[in-house]
Amino acid sequence: MNHFELRDGELYCEDVPLAVIAQAVGTPVYVYSTATFERHYTVLREALEAEGVRDPLIAFAVKANSNLAVLRTLAKLGAGADTVSEGEIRRALAAGVPPERIVFSGVGKTRAEIAFALEAGVCEINVESEPEMLAIAQVAQSLGKRATIAFRVNPDVAAGGHAKIATGKSENKFGVSFAEAERLYAQASNNAWLKPVGVACHIGSQITDLAPMAEAFEKMAGLVRRLKGEGLHVERLDLGGGLGVPYFNQPEPPSPADYAKVVAQATRGLDVTLAFEPGRVIAANAGVLLAQVVHVHERPEGRRFLVLDAAMNDLLRPAMYDAYHDIRAVRPREGEAKPYDVVGPVCETGDTFTRDRALPAFESGDLVAFMSAGAYGASMASEYNSRPLVPEVMVKGGDYAIVRPRPTYDEMLARETPAPWL
Ligand SMILES: Cc1ncc(COP(=O)(O)O)c(C=O)c1O
Repeated sequence: MNHFELRDGELYCEDVPLAVIAQAVGTPVYVYSTATFERHYTVLREALEAEGVRDPLIAFAVKANSNLAVLRTLAKLGAGADTVSEGEIRRALAAGVPPERIVFSGVGKTRAEIAFALEAGVCEINVESEPEMLAIAQVAQSLGKRATIAFRVNPDVAAGGHAKIATGKSENKFGVSFAEAERLYAQASNNAWLKPVGVACHIGSQITDLAPMAEAFEKMAGLVRRLKGEGLHVERLDLGGGLGVPYFNQPEPPSPADYAKVVAQATRGLDVTLAFEPGRVIAANAGVLLAQVVHVHERPEGRRFLVLDAAMNDLLRPAMYDAYHDIRAVRPREGEAKPYDVVGPVCETGDTFTRDRALPAFESGDLVAFMSAGAYGASMASEYNSRPLVPEVMVKGGDYAIVRPRPTYDEMLARETPAPWL
């Protein structure tokens, strides 16, 4: 459930008409609903607790939406942060996430980033390879600090809504195999600069089938049992693998309650703290991208293009993952739906949000909302084609605040310095 709904013929975010935000801030603009973020986090936590999962660490995947207002909203509810760069750790800290609730993952952490994470005191660094484990030990020694680590295991399970967001097959770059995990865990336990506390996995994003999750979680539970059986200390199991959300024309994802049942079933009797790294399931339906129709261009041979002022640089998912977002009129007009190709102004054919989609009639100047755009929307946006970075607005009840302003063209140009010989 989310808090974007039609009231008296126009689309609202909580108690604010989207048209009011478009008028005040301009378009394109991302609009987030505080109540929806809060609800999604709470529903997930309560579903886990209802299945007997005690005090789970729900570390929001900062990559999904890294706006400080979003992170702060979740931090106030007790969320941790799953991070993959120094920049994301800094964001989580700035938003008030306590370091002991920050997990640091990623296959290519630099020594500088590892040092930063150790100085910050993050709760665990997820080790993705043997060379990385050795690098962490060296950095820890140079700082005189023992590094708390977990091993990210690649469970070799296929899942995820698109090949580009599947992370848990052995051909993917992430994590170590089960055999490596057992060997490295034992090795790390004998290293004075490393403190292994657990194991982690992440099998993919936009997962709409619980079977691969159950398979991966069972395999991970088996690993925990084997490690404990060898007398090794294991206190945390991090079960990544992002629940899907209902995008346009996509299979209906499982409910958090059913997901929690799978978790509980796989981990019964393990005696470890469970951690999770959800991004999309918390953020996607908490945000929309608001855009305006620039032209309706009807070609004589029949194609009808809805040309928007939002483009692939603002919402990359359709171009990158063939993703389909529901597209709604902010003030739907009467009349029959017609097929449209919805496109942006960027000079790439890939700047196409959808083709031949039946939509209500639109006219130039109308407002359009891309639904389910709160995850991997603004956080993946760029200034390609020298288009100003898309702003973000947070709504709470009847209030709203610009939480990332649109840069001016002067600000964009001032970031660059000509080479001295030019
Ligand atoms: C390590 C890790 N954790 C968490 C996530 C978040 O996944 P999702 O947004 O599907 O919940 C991802 C996404 O790819 C990831 O790679």
